[in-house]
Amino acid sequence: MIIGCPKEIKNNENRVALTPGGAMALIKRGHTVYVQSSAGKGSGYSDEEYEAAGANILPTIEDVYAIAETIVKVKEPIEKEYSLVRDGQFLFTYFHFASSRPLTEAMLKSNSICLAYETVEDRNGKLPLLVPMSEVAGRMSIQNGAKFLEKPSGGLGILLGGVPGVKPAKVLILGGGVVGIQAAKMAAGLGANVILMDINLDRLRELENVLPANVTTVYSSEYNIRKELSTVDLIIGAVLIPGAKAPSLITRDMLSEMRDGAVIVDVAVDQGGCIETCKPTTHEDPTFVVDGIVHYCVANMPGAVPYTSTIALTNATLPYLMRIADHGWEKACADDPGLAKGLNVVKGEIVYGPVAEAFA
Ligand SMILES: NC(=O)c1ccc[n+]([C@@H]2O[C@H](COP(=O)([O-])OP(=O)(O)OC[C@H]3O[C@@H](n4cnc5c(N)ncnc54)[C@H](O)[C@@H]3O)[C@@H](O)[C@H]2O)c1
Repeated sequence: MIIGCPKEIKNNENRVALTPGGAMALIKRGHTVYVQSSAGKGSGYSDEEYEAAGANILPTIEDVYAIAETIVKVKEPIEKEYSLVRDGQFLFTYFHFASSRPLTEAMLKSNSICLAYETVEDRNGKLPLLVPMSEVAGRMSIQNGAKFLEKPSGGLGILLGGVPGVKPAKVLILGGGVVGIQAAKMAAGLGANVILMDINLDRLRELENVLPANVTTVYSSEYNIRKELSTVDLIIGAVLIPGAKAPSLITRDMLSEMRDGAVIVDVAVDQGGCIETCKPTTHEDPTFVVDGIVHYCVANMPGAVPYTSTIALTNATLPYLMRIADHGWEKACADDPGLAKGLNVVKGEIVYGPVAEAFA
């Protein structure tokens, strides 16, 4: 199969969908790989490394779309790329179709096959191509929370771990899924006093068993959240109700119970956020202040650490890409119903229920 990896052109996207190692693995199986010049630069991979792995470097994005049967990407095609997608071409990337009618209409019109990372499922119904980015964001949430707790960043001026003779900071994590457990591990490792809330009791039991003693699990309810607010320094929003907007667990009136300079990192911002006052921000201007509380609500947190995120993402996507390349998308999807769940648009038709519903 001929596989093409264009350079990402979405604003501030430095990840790449294929590493030189991934290219080498595909080439060793008899496939041909074309990579756009400088596609890997933002993640630390030079054109020479791809060439050494056996890939061919093409100068422009047009060249890559023109030659490849399969396009592997990180983010959905943006408007400039719509006209490059060819009839019958197979695209493997994050799409998030439900949030963009123009993208959906463009892909329908292109007559391409769009397999979306975000809806691929594993045997347990989990989303294996979303997990790595949640892991990155969960770990980053504490790094950023710690930074914005510093006085020059507008925070309270508290060191997360304290020092001998001084109490550590108190961190409240809402949601104990992939983001929540990674955040808890990082905060606990830095010595903070962590409270982790979830509504899933089985999940709380699991977390209690694996997390260190400075993490306390508490059932999530408005009453229990309110009890912590006057003494909490950092809140991490990590709630997800699949397919729905995140519930507002902290409403604006609750901010007045917190101390000025406390920090909220709402990782769930991409699903609308679980803090009422959350609105999406960017890496260039990541925070804003409401009622004295610093809000960090960056919607693509992993984009800031492309070296790590690229490897984490491609570790998860490459085994699927190899099966698609070896057998073709139709057989690969027929053999794996979880992979077939990733099919969102096939040759002019929406084949994924929630996307069809999103556009009535
Ligand atoms: N901002 C970013 O860059 C970025 C990156 C990755 C993921 N995310 C987002 O982070 C969010 C969390 O992702 P995840 O992978 O951890 O999801 P997950 O499904 O693994 O975990 C979500 C958890 O929230 C819990 N929950 C549901 N309702 C709750 C409530 N009322 N109170 C407390 N907990 C509740 C669930 O029981 C579950 O354990 C998602 O919205 C995801 O899209 C954002």
